[in-house]
Amino acid sequence: MSKIVIKNLDNRLLDNKDNSKSVLNIIHENHIDWMFACGGNGRCTTCKIVVTKGLDNLSEMTEAEIKFSQIGKLAKNERLACQCSLRGDVEVEVAAQNKFPHMKYSY
Ligand code: FES
Repeated sequence: MSKIVIKNLDNRLLDNKDNSKSVLNIIHENHIDWMFACGGNGRCTTCKIVVTKGLDNLSEMTEAEIKFSQIGKLAKNERLACQCSLRGDVEVEVAAQNKFPHMKYSY
């Protein structure tokens, strides 16, 4: 069992019982509107999470994530929510450029 806290969504807490699921799946199962322009296939970066705590509690980076980090599209504290899964608790933020205009963010 692991937890995700989404800091800029009022510290929304997501309890997760199945660590085989992607972070994106967990977010969507909790009915949170989150960008995923390529359908969760590792081809865009719109599902990006900015990890503020627990970076080591995520699965190994996938080839897609390594590629985006090599071309400067993913910082060291950023992961693709569709590509990673949980190994422990994390705290994350919605990236500024991926916020929806209809959603209310706490910062
Ligand atoms: S949804 Fe496109 S990379 Fe994750």
